[in-house]
Amino acid sequence: MARRPSRLPSREAAPESDADETARRRIEALSRELERHDQLYYQEDAPEISDREYDLLRRELEALEAAHPELIRPDSPTQRVGSAPAEGFATAPHRSPMLSLDNAMNADEMRAFDARVKKLLGRDDEVEYVAEPKLDGSGIELIYENGRFVQGLTRGDGQTGEDVTVNLRHVATIPEELATTSPPPIASIRGEIVLPLAAFERLNEKRLAAGLRPFENPRNAAAGSLRQIHDVDLQRLASLEFRAYALAEGQPAGISRQHEVLAQLADWGFFVSPECGRARGAGEAIAFNEALLARRGELPIEIDGTVFKVDRLEAQAELGTVARAPRWAIAFKFPPEQAETVLADVEFQVGRTGALTPVARLRPIRVGGVTVSNASLHNQDELDRKDIRVGDRIVIQRAGDVIPQVVRVRLDKRREALAEGFQLARTRLPDRCPVCQAATVRLEGESVTRCANVDCPAQLKTNLRHLASRGALDVDGLGEKLVDQLVEAGLVRRLSDVFALRAEDLEALPRMGEKSAANLVAALERARHTTLARWLIALGIRHVGETVAEMLAQRFETMERLLSATPEEIGAIEGIGGTIAESVGRFLADPHNRAEIARFAELGLVVESPPARPTPAEGGSDVLAGLTFVLTGTLSQPREVFERRIKDAGGKTSGSVSKKTSYVLAGEEAGSKLKKATELGVAVLDEAGFEALLAARQADGA
Ligand code: IVH
Repeated sequence: MARRPSRLPSREAAPESDADETARRRIEALSRELERHDQLYYQEDAPEISDREYDLLRRELEALEAAHPELIRPDSPTQRVGSAPAEGFATAPHRSPMLSLDNAMNADEMRAFDARVKKLLGRDDEVEYVAEPKLDGSGIELIYENGRFVQGLTRGDGQTGEDVTVNLRHVATIPEELATTSPPPIASIRGEIVLPLAAFERLNEKRLAAGLRPFENPRNAAAGSLRQIHDVDLQRLASLEFRAYALAEGQPAGISRQHEVLAQLADWGFFVSPECGRARGAGEAIAFNEALLARRGELPIEIDGTVFKVDRLEAQAELGTVARAPRWAIAFKFPPEQAETVLADVEFQVGRTGALTPVARLRPIRVGGVTVSNASLHNQDELDRKDIRVGDRIVIQRAGDVIPQVVRVRLDKRREALAEGFQLARTRLPDRCPVCQAATVRLEGESVTRCANVDCPAQLKTNLRHLASRGALDVDGLGEKLVDQLVEAGLVRRLSDVFALRAEDLEALPRMGEKSAANLVAALERARHTTLARWLIALGIRHVGETVAEMLAQRFETMERLLSATPEEIGAIEGIGGTIAESVGRFLADPHNRAEIARFAELGLVVESPPARPTPAEGGSDVLAGLTFVLTGTLSQPREVFERRIKDAGGKTSGSVSKKTSYVLAGEEAGSKLKKATELGVAVLDEAGFEALLAARQADGA
């Protein structure tokens, strides 16, 4: 089944009876969710959550795996570092691992780093460091053979990267040849690909004008540009900048210091950050970092700290590397910059999963070198926690990302807001979706409020892709591009429209020939014959994946019966918890969704009869044909056992008592259903009565 966004079952959804099973399910869900975010971050350069939210998910997974080592899967996201190479580019190993850096978050941590270096080197005098800006881009390795550029790799997972040589050849700051008459046979140059801020802003303007989603920050934009595969935009490549900072192989004799390495790189024709400098000891390093921070806003590129590297290469070798980071270098990170402004308004955006995000519209203000006018407010909990109201004076900060966060409200300045005429009303997420006006819901235990309409244009594409996926209706040939086209051309306005598509509609689409149109029509025809479980999956009900869909299908057998089931009946299914039952119940209660379900059927979707019942030789019979049973109370064996026996004998089961019910089979402590049966005059059997009925009918039939 194709992975869907936000299919992460909440903790409540797992059975509580079995702690291991709960852990296993949560580990699986977390792994899938992390993989999806890795994909979004590394392959699509379109992250949906903040680094912090990602870290929290990852930490939860790590904690669970630590407690249940037997459940660690070899393909768990915790067993990898960095990104898996994207599909499309060939991969190649790095000549030596590309390391990462440890961070110092404040002056104390910088001093601690310096103290450890001194201790390890057994020195009392001040250590000399090279200070380099910490470039916020994408690390790469360039290989030069006899002075000629032959290969460029992304960092990838540190061991293996993607071969993006073809794209790198268009980056002006990557020389085709080293500017020397005596190049080393092999040189491995490492540095960062960055996108200067001015180019970043131009690129985003272009994307917005073209109806594309703008990049979140220059780092994502740089990574995205570097990894263009199709319709490569050369201008985007040309606007990238390569800044060199390390020579992993091919170091000419006589070089013994990092500052000499930088000079050599510059000599060979590379661009080395002009902000580089030197510092003796922690004191000077802290001062350097502060001075660089003060200049941050004037720099043409995004940086997020200073990297301090022990200058003497011999000392570097002595200090060595632990885990994945060298002990001779540290990234001293800038504190996030803060500023104060007025929250002019709050708007609500609908994401691809239907999630509503409150977005702060700010009086524009400069923070960290850029003017910001928006900030994410995340969700209702965040609004409540910080008590954020329109008109408030708020403190915002910009960490690594261009999208800033609201740190806190200046409660002491509310008078000013009132004086300006603001009402200072509490901020509430709307009851109606701002895009399609359908009702919004927030499920218990979740922080996110969502638009409940599967056909909300904001969600339709995702939902249609899901409907076509293998685990759902498996519509051959209905891929992402075509889904986009169908929705954009207005051919699909709600999910069921897909079954109203005719060959002539499809042929009118660009790049769609007669043959492919006919193929899709045929694929849709095949997809019309499905099972109840697949149909339920296809509807994209939150929390309904394969397992839950199977359980629902087994219990109710037909869509009609499921539609008339009560939330209690759904919740009573073994393994379906309150969260799932609530989600299913809410979905099925929505008149719009019911209309959609009816329309699917009208447009020819048929549920194939469930697998054939056992033959008399296999223990099956027809003796209960025409009878409908409702089971209630506690029986001597699980309910499913009786359900199976009834079905094998040709009978039906239902979740609710009506005049059509033939018998109610009541166990211990039967409640409302028993009462209803008595009211309606429906016959009630206990287990003995049921066995007697079955025996009598079998004797009759024999
Ligand atoms: S040195 C040997 N120098 O930061 C240590 N890295 O957080 C690693 N980075 O993967 C490389 N500016 O992509 C080094 N002046 C700089 C850097 C820098 C940015 C990146 C690099 C690395 C990451 C680690």
